[in-house]
Parts: sequence; structure tokens; C-alpha cells
Amino acid sequence: MANQAAQAPAKEVQFTDEQIAALAAYVGSVSTGPSIPDEEYLSGDGDVAHGAELFRTNCAMCHNVSGAGGALTEGKYAPALDEVTPQHIYEAMVTGPQNMPVFSDTNLSADDKADIISYLLYLRENDSPGGIDLGNLGPVAEGLFLWIIGLGIIVGFTVWLASKPN
Ligand code: HEC
Repeated sequence: MANQAAQAPAKEVQFTDEQIAALAAYVGSVSTGPSIPDEEYLSGDGDVAHGAELFRTNCAMCHNVSGAGGALTEGKYAPALDEVTPQHIYEAMVTGPQNMPVFSDTNLSADDKADIISYLLYLRENDSPGGIDLGNLGPVAEGLFLWIIGLGIIVGFTVWLASKPN
């Protein structure tokens, strides 16, 4: 999976939660990888503004500024982050699945990770203050929306104006 090839898609989960916990415990007993994060970092009551800043510098280039996901090169893509659990977000940062880089504790401390999680949870629980978010896809979607709807209204109005004298 670390190969520079097209991304392997997620498959149906094959194991029960109990079996997954047992597998994790076994792997944990034979190697020195990161452990399952403490609950205190997953509650989402960290510093949202700081988390947003960290997200914009470390994650937004792949996952989009609001975590809506995005296409990468050669058939790879960064998934949307609006449904993943806090534990999943933390574990993704410490393990770096496929083409995602690893964010070790020297890079982003445990508190920084908790702030990023808080930011992502905040986005889910709060409406977009700027109005319709158009899927949070960014300037292309917004430009297209304005181009089609905005220009459509102007053209429609012009036609209506010009048809009056008849
Ligand atoms: C270089 C691009 C890149 C950057 C930067 C990046 N990611 Fe990712 N991320 C990915 C890719 C690609 C995947 C999909 C990997 C897979 O499916 O195995 C992913 C997967 C994830 C997942 C798992 C989503 C799921 O549905 O399973 C989470 C959570 C996540 N990233 C969070 C983050 C956070 C938080 C940051 C910043 C600290 C970040 N990512 C930075 C590319 C990136």
C-alpha cells in the first residue's frame, strides 16, 4: 500500500469489533507502533481556532480546507472527513495510511492532534456562516455556481427587458 500506485479502495470490514481489538492487541505485543489514543484527546473540546490553523497548514492541501476531500495525482484521492470518528482521525495522523504522511508527536503534539479533531467536529456541528456551502468544494464550485446562476439571471433579465417593447 505504500507503493506509488493507484489508491487501494476501502473494502467491507471482515472482522467483528472484538476480533479487531484482539488483532490490535497482538500486533501491539510484538511491535512498537503507536498505541490507541487516550480518550482525553478525542473529546473535541480542544482549541478549535488553533486546530483550524493546523489543519490549513498540514491537511488542507489534500483534504480541502473544510475536510470535504479531494482528488490527488494518478488515481489517488484524499477522502472526505465528515463521517470518520475522532479515534479514526487521530490514528490516521499517527499511522499515515497509503499516501498520507505520518504526523508524529514531534510534528503535531497530542494536544495539536486534539485541536485538529475539535476543528473537524466543530465543522460538523455548525452551519456554514457564509450561507450555502455548495458542498464546501471551494472556488471552482462557487465560481461555476455564480457563472451559471448569476449570469443566467442577468441574461434572463436582459431578454425580459428587451421583450417589453414588443
Ligand atoms: C499528501 C496528502 C495528505 C495529507 C497532507 C493529509 N492526508 Fe489524510 N489522507 C490522505 C489519503 C490519500 C488518505 C486515504 C488513505 C487510505 O484510504 O488508505 C487519507 C486518509 C485520511 C483519513 C482516513 C479517512 C477514512 O475515511 O478512512 C483521515 C482521518 C485523515 N486522512 C486525516 C488527515 C489529517 C487530520 C491530516 C492533517 C494532519 C491529513 N489527513 C493530511 C492524504 C493526505
